[in-house]
Amino acid sequence: MDSQKLLFSFLCLPLLLILLKGLEAEGHLQREHKKLFVFGDSYVDSGNIRKGFANSWKVPYGTTFPGKPVGRFSDGRVFSDYIARYLGLKSPIPYRLRKLMPQHLKYGMNFAFGGTGVFDTFAKAPNMTTQIHLFQQLIQHKLYSPSDLTNSVALVSVAGNDYTHFAATNGSAQGFPSFIASVVNQTATNLLSIQKLGVKKIVVDGVQPLGCLPQSTTTSFFQQCNSTLNNLVVLHNNLLHQAVTKLNDKTKGQSTFIILDLFNSFMSVLDNPSTYNIKDPRKPCCVGVSSEYKCGSVGENNVQKYKVCDKPNTSFYWDLVHPSQAGWNAVYNKLQTTGALQQLRN
Ligand SMILES: *[C@@H]1O[C@H](CO)[C@@H](O)[C@H](O)[C@H]1NC(C)=O
Ligand SMILES: *[C@@H]1O[C@H](CO)[C@@H](O)[C@H](O)[C@H]1NC(C)=O
Ligand SMILES: *[C@@H]1O[C@H](CO)[C@@H](O)[C@H](O)[C@H]1NC(C)=O
Ligand SMILES: *[C@@H]1O[C@H](CO)[C@@H](O)[C@H](O)[C@H]1NC(C)=O
Ligand SMILES: *[C@@H]1O[C@H](CO)[C@@H](O)[C@H](O)[C@H]1NC(C)=O
Repeated sequence: MDSQKLLFSFLCLPLLLILLKGLEAEGHLQREHKKLFVFGDSYVDSGNIRKGFANSWKVPYGTTFPGKPVGRFSDGRVFSDYIARYLGLKSPIPYRLRKLMPQHLKYGMNFAFGGTGVFDTFAKAPNMTTQIHLFQQLIQHKLYSPSDLTNSVALVSVAGNDYTHFAATNGSAQGFPSFIASVVNQTATNLLSIQKLGVKKIVVDGVQPLGCLPQSTTTSFFQQCNSTLNNLVVLHNNLLHQAVTKLNDKTKGQSTFIILDLFNSFMSVLDNPSTYNIKDPRKPCCVGVSSEYKCGSVGENNVQKYKVCDKPNTSFYWDLVHPSQAGWNAVYNKLQTTGALQQLRN
């Protein structure tokens, strides 16, 4: 009897240990499997737009981080870098570099291209539908497995290029509401395609206050946000909220769609800049020397045609449309205090 018991524990203990080890390993693997996939525009692009196609590849872009221009539309980090950090991941590599840096595939991938929208814009780069197709192709080629996708987060940024394009082409004020409805409908369609590919957690940015972008406030010397534009953004964000609620009902239990409220986080920083060590919240740090030049422009004989402020780390906006690293850091801090990011980790 006793010897049987002994034999039993002799056999069982190692088995139990192996079993526990296995569970631990599985947990470990799952944690390693978490990845971030990014879609959208310059607010999250970490270098997909090619050199020569955007000023993001010119000095002084990238001077704060990583120290030289790498295609990010900022002096340093952009929003996707902060979301990756929140998830405990390295920032996912740009799609364009996937073959050069295979060791980074485990953090996910960034399919975002600066200047793009859910519809075609002036940017000669893949719209969001095409970005999702690129992702789908990689899944078909088994670069990412179903369990990779189950544990992953997708970040989707629609930061207004559709509206800039619409305003510059069709753009009557009366036409805006129905165009906004179609942008939101297309966004919802795109979110659903990402979900169908197997990603369970999909985060979409609300549009930021377009009326406060330096490009919209030049006439008031960066003092006053354009409320006409901001009201249109509020309409977009309300419709987005409705669409996302529907998506969550439709896919209940299988996936979660989450909105990150960039509108209110931007406003909160712009209205309480000192809380975030920001001075001159509405004035961009880097601008062209005159209206025909932009941040990063050079003239004949490589003459610099832009000016940079003394302290980029106290500016909210880097150029006429993009937050600085300090700006994104402030928005990220604001989002953390609202608890909005927590759902990304669970
Ligand atoms: C996105 O781009 C593709 C390829 O150029 C095009 O066929 C498609 O119509 C575009 N989608 C939208 C929603 O604009
Ligand atoms: C914009 O105008 C073009 C041609 O004028 C038209 O084909 C297109 O449908 C319009 N787009 C919207 C969203 O109204
Ligand atoms: C977009 O609009 C079409 C036509 O109104 C509708 O059938 C479709 O369900 C909408 N898509 C989403 C994702 O809401
Ligand atoms: C605000 O933006 C709208 C739409 O682009 C434009 O028509 C209007 O002139 C702007 N208002 C001011 C005060 O700049
Ligand atoms: C901003 O940068 C300056 C010098 O580069 C540094 O001394 C200062 O501490 C920084 N301020 C903040 C708020 O990070």
